Amino acid sequence: MQAMQAKQRLDYQPSDYTIDTLSLVFELDDHHTRVTARSSVRRQRPGADTLVLDGEALTLQSVAIDGKSLGQEQYRLAEGQLHIPADLDAFELELVTEIDPANNTTLEGLYQSGGAFCTQCEAEGFRRITYFLDRPDVLARYHTRIEADKARFPFLLSNGNKVAEGELEGGRHFAEWQDPFPKPSYLFALVAGDFDCLRDTFVTRSGREVALELFVDKGNLGRAEHAMASLKHSMAWDEQRFNLEYDLDIYMIVAVDFFNMGAMENKGLNIFNSKAVLADPTTATDDEYHRIESIIGHEYFHNWTGNRVTCRDWFQLSLKEGLTVFRDQEFSADMGSPVVNRILAVKTIRSHQFAEDAGPMAHPIRPDSVIEMNNFYTVTVYDKGAEVIRMMHTLLGEQRFQQGMALYFERHDGQAVTCDDFVAAMEDASGVDLGQFRLWYSQSGTPVVSVQEQYDPASQRYRLTLSQHTPATADQADKQPLHIPVKLQLLDGEGNNVPLVINGEPANNVLNLQQAEQSWEFEQVSEPVVASLFEDFSAPVKLEQSLSDAQLALLMTSADNDFVRWDAAQRLLAKQVVALVNGELEQLPLTVLDALRPVLLEPGLDPALVAEMLALPPEQALAQEVAGLDVEELHLARRAVMSQIGLALEDELQARYQQYANQAYRNDGKAIGERALKNRCLFLLALGGKADAQALCQRQFDAADNMTDTLAALNAVNQGRLPVAAQLMAQFEQRWQDSALVMDKWFSQLAMAPRSDVLDAIRAAMGHSAFDMANPNRVRALVGAFASGNRNAFHAIDGSGYRFLTDCLIELNGINPQCAARIMTPLMGWRELDETRQGLMKAQLQRLADLPDLSRDLYEKVSKSLG
Ligand code: TRP
Ligand code: ZN
Repeated sequence: MQAMQAKQRLDYQPSDYTIDTLSLVFELDDHHTRVTARSSVRRQRPGADTLVLDGEALTLQSVAIDGKSLGQEQYRLAEGQLHIPADLDAFELELVTEIDPANNTTLEGLYQSGGAFCTQCEAEGFRRITYFLDRPDVLARYHTRIEADKARFPFLLSNGNKVAEGELEGGRHFAEWQDPFPKPSYLFALVAGDFDCLRDTFVTRSGREVALELFVDKGNLGRAEHAMASLKHSMAWDEQRFNLEYDLDIYMIVAVDFFNMGAMENKGLNIFNSKAVLADPTTATDDEYHRIESIIGHEYFHNWTGNRVTCRDWFQLSLKEGLTVFRDQEFSADMGSPVVNRILAVKTIRSHQFAEDAGPMAHPIRPDSVIEMNNFYTVTVYDKGAEVIRMMHTLLGEQRFQQGMALYFERHDGQAVTCDDFVAAMEDASGVDLGQFRLWYSQSGTPVVSVQEQYDPASQRYRLTLSQHTPATADQADKQPLHIPVKLQLLDGEGNNVPLVINGEPANNVLNLQQAEQSWEFEQVSEPVVASLFEDFSAPVKLEQSLSDAQLALLMTSADNDFVRWDAAQRLLAKQVVALVNGELEQLPLTVLDALRPVLLEPGLDPALVAEMLALPPEQALAQEVAGLDVEELHLARRAVMSQIGLALEDELQARYQQYANQAYRNDGKAIGERALKNRCLFLLALGGKADAQALCQRQFDAADNMTDTLAALNAVNQGRLPVAAQLMAQFEQRWQDSALVMDKWFSQLAMAPRSDVLDAIRAAMGHSAFDMANPNRVRALVGAFASGNRNAFHAIDGSGYRFLTDCLIELNGINPQCAARIMTPLMGWRELDETRQGLMKAQLQRLADLPDLSRDLYEKVSKSLG
């Protein structure tokens, strides 16, 4: 393994030159696309004499400055860079390069998806199109001309407004696009293909009409409506909540099948993974409808947070991603259930972000050192980044937060800026001191907050002491105390909130924990209380607070905050799993069942919330919470808890199931919540394993008029290991074998099945006609689902899971390094496992390290894992 160079955040230097306008001409051809790029270049650093451009996988044809072409001896092509002598203050540069989109399996730069050409330039893909200053602080105005065969590619799209189009010889045609907004190269996009187009319009608050165009593969118009509705909701919401209007006359979205991530916010021309667009009730689940809405929102919201104000350098990625995730979460909350959306976000942090902090790739939300930028589109940068924005929102309140946003845009519209610039705007607009708070940007790791209490009945004083400590992470040994907002309530024996009084004054229910240890003394507390801490997950920390089953049951059944009730249920259930692993328990105690039963029966409680309260924390989250739990014992204990609930509450689960069993499909929040609860009941009944559970599942599978119910029945029989599972899997495959996105669900069901022969089934599925190693959706559905969603099988003690994943990674390394690096994550976490597994995992990591052509993406993760 040959060492590769990391870039450091603190090495940032402004570019010696900048480019103000760029005119691009694409002569599209499968294997020989010619790209002519004319830049107006301007020197920024006096004394600079060499223009150094980034470029990868390009064939350079010619270089000309101010119309004079340069001989090969006049420039220098070094690894990934083109050096051009340029002792000039301003000049025109013309470059002609040739590229091979048809053989570009990396899905970065210009490539082909299905029959179409498309681009993906974030983070550093533009350099695979032409030599350029491929960095986000170089903002240029783009003019793009596309020429292509008219029959194969009737639609020719790029950013901005179409300014010309026409016919060319030989059956070809062209279109020209002008984007009025200066933008970094990562926001460039081009699409050429044949599509069906769903058209609509949106009238902005100031009365401008915007054309909305959604391009999908032919025959898929019927599956585009939800995405279009989501777009219009996003546009209206951003006006209402953030006072932000769309700024071009046209907004286009193109759905493609081959895509490395969910979607991309290219100015005026978003490109989406088709799975983040296409939905109808028979092929997409309620969860997928929700996800589509949130991704459409996310990319739309980037138009201001990302595009109008962009990042100075890639270390600042969370400036746009953390903020935009926060915005899409708020959008989802406002469109649906705030608490269910909050639960979703918290689950992501607890099972994935905490694991990232604990592993070899630990990094702050603003990383300091990067080898391959693609590896930093992480749950830390995105989701913890959003939590950091949310904490500022908690500290400032909505009104002052919005004043901060307004100041941020007033100061920085049209600029490429840093996370510090954002915090400064928040601070200056609100007057709230965020000095210590800034540490959240530079310090990695999960803080652990522990609790000490003292109650004195005589003086009626309750003293709460909180201590914070952030364990060392792989990237950073020393940690300092953070500014942590602690949202709390104190509950009396009936579960009612006790008024918070400190120093004779009503106290805020958000405490500022800023020291390593800090105490608060609450007065007029007339009985012992239960402290409900970090309500709504007010900070991304682990809480160490020992509450009894009875105290958790009280929070779970009586707290006035629904998030608190869910969180208490999670803690109560987690406790039982751990007690089972530790041999402290065989049967679920009555306290637990007696706390779950009323939740299941409480008519006033949102069914969607009940469904979440009856779901156990995933194995990954439990493994994060309690160190050293044996993989297999944890898996079995968690199953045992679910199965005991299924048996002990059988009557209640049955009743609640039947309440919703025969409802016709509707697509609204109420019906979605009821389906979620119905299917949670079915799942627990299947895990309980009584004979009639199988009949229920089969009946639902046969009768379902929507994919949510179909898949829930299939999942219940697979996870419950019911005998009918094989038959239903075969029926599902028969029905959907020609529909790739639906087959992804089948691949995932197969990969996550709790069976000892699961690897044989997965290997067989890799030969299925619907499977394609070059398509990231397929790879994630099968290989990714196995490695990250079938923890017990992946960590099989014979090492077969590790070997299998590594075989796949070796193949993917040569096809799509970005995709490979994303699915290798479960192989990195060997430190938290027993010695045998550690040895097996390290052996596979070493196999990767020994590859002669290891990609930068995998190199970074492998070397950090072994280091
Ligand atoms: N900026 C995109 C988003 O969050 C992320 C993205 C899409 C991306 N495609 C990518 C990041 C390819 C890296 C590589 O909305
Ligand atoms: Zn984003």
